[in-house]
Amino acid sequence: MHRRSLLGVILSVALAACASGSLSSAPAPKGEGMVAAADPRAVEAGLEMLRRGGTATDAAIATMLVLGLVEPQSAGVGGGGFLVAYDKRTRDLAAYDGREQAPAGATPALFLGADGKPLGYRDAVLGGLSTGAPSLVAMLEMAHRENGRLPWADLFAPALRLADEGFVISPRMAALVAGAARLGALKDDPEARAYFFDAAGAPLTAGTLRTNPAYAATLRAIARSGARALTQGPIADDIVETVQRAPRGGTLSLADLRAVKPRKLEPVCGAYRAYTVCGMGPPSSGGVAVLSILGLYERARPAPVGAADADDWSAYLWASRLAYADRDHYVADDQVVPVPTAGLTDPRYLTARASEIDLSKAPLRVQPGDPSITVGGPSLLDRWGRDTPGDTPGTTHLSVIDGDGNAVALTATVEGPFGSHRMAGGFMLNNQLTDFSFAPEKNGKPVANAPGPRKRPRSSMAPTIILDAKGDLAAVIGSPGGSAIIGYVAKTIIGVIDWNLTMQQAIDLPNLTARSDTVRAETTRMAPGVEAALTARGWKIAPTGATEASGLHGFRVTPQGLDGGADPRREGVARGTGR
Ligand code: DON
Repeated sequence: MHRRSLLGVILSVALAACASGSLSSAPAPKGEGMVAAADPRAVEAGLEMLRRGGTATDAAIATMLVLGLVEPQSAGVGGGGFLVAYDKRTRDLAAYDGREQAPAGATPALFLGADGKPLGYRDAVLGGLSTGAPSLVAMLEMAHRENGRLPWADLFAPALRLADEGFVISPRMAALVAGAARLGALKDDPEARAYFFDAAGAPLTAGTLRTNPAYAATLRAIARSGARALTQGPIADDIVETVQRAPRGGTLSLADLRAVKPRKLEPVCGAYRAYTVCGMGPPSSGGVAVLSILGLYERARPAPVGAADADDWSAYLWASRLAYADRDHYVADDQVVPVPTAGLTDPRYLTARASEIDLSKAPLRVQPGDPSITVGGPSLLDRWGRDTPGDTPGTTHLSVIDGDGNAVALTATVEGPFGSHRMAGGFMLNNQLTDFSFAPEKNGKPVANAPGPRKRPRSSMAPTIILDAKGDLAAVIGSPGGSAIIGYVAKTIIGVIDWNLTMQQAIDLPNLTARSDTVRAETTRMAPGVEAALTARGWKIAPTGATEASGLHGFRVTPQGLDGGADPRREGVARGTGR
């Protein structure tokens, strides 16, 4: 966000600031840094950079490169991501878009079979059809050019050590390899088969020490040549051959690899109580939808009570339902379709939309709203067909603060676990294109998020930075989880701001995802009586266990120091450098 407009939001927040909220306005004590991420080895890589005087961006990149090795099911060189950065000195924020892009050969019918019906999982996901041009490394390179301090090549040292000397396979990675094996996936691809299975064809087990020489070679090439190593030369050739290979080959070409460019954007910011919440705009729906949930929740609960209060949860569910309906309908690649970001996050629109909330009952059917009311233009509602796509769980989020108080929120992904299940250069190739709506039309109207040539699929990733009324850093958070990311992140923000929880307590709160009529809920984590109260109001609660696998990693800045949290549903940690 340009400095002036960000300051505008902060100023209006400051003027409207009430006493509510538990986040402190104290700056991080000089010298303290923290990394919260999905694997302790990745966190240590980030801390190593911070201890060497690196910036939050340096640490985030080193952390990410290790995650690409030890958590290949989630994210890496063959995928994409979004990064939001806070500059302590200027108090400015920047958003970096590293979303994958469809090849020029992609058509709206990309995921339709010969019968005109949407393809099933195997045909859509397991192969090159689903792979977009990777953009994560190019985005990290751009962020490093602007915000890095350590030499680019130095950031690769921890990942190279682990790839060369070996790392221990974690229980989560082993379980996901075994799950893929049960589906008959991964084994189809020669490189993935050789890497994830032993000579007898048995999947890797937890505790096994593994080296990844191919990934080490890729990292050395990127350390030397930057993202160019992935768009020309042997690694690029390998990517293209692997994607195009039959069966289920895609059209991704060298020209497509070179066509994707990272972008530096303004974050999408909005007021929440006494704070300013900033996230990623289109092609992610994350920032817009998190702000929608928070804005609607704030209007429904001017005086929230706490995590054991059924009215609070009812308001959260209502806010989620309304926000998801708008997100599903309107948000897509802003370079290809017009996205009413300003309208959807406009306080007047949120106030009008919040008037639909009735905490005494559950909504019958939720329709998208019409944000054109804020500008008085023609209705936007009927421009698009109503789309309600699904998604599967393979993404990672990390939050970093350096000793100078600069911060980074980075969410990165290969989309589903192990992406397209095809491997090149020691890394997984994404299946990000399945984030497009498979059906390009609904009720005779185009769907905003339909596939298209060189288009970016809509994301839900929501790397989020929260500032206090003075513009000082208050918290950083984000998560994997497909479209549920939006709810996970909003829940955690409500936890720390409204319910006076620590970051860890807020992460531990039950995940309740109200995207459709049925609410997916971690009922075993809910406070006594809340599930019964919600059911009595008509909410259809479907208990879920491991399927609500958020991976929330973040921290608050408090007068006592940094308060970090890592999601118990995954394998991460939040660790400080010490002062
Ligand atoms: O960009 C997105 O929103 C999805 N591809 C993210 C997928 C995801 O988070 C899977 N998580 N566990």
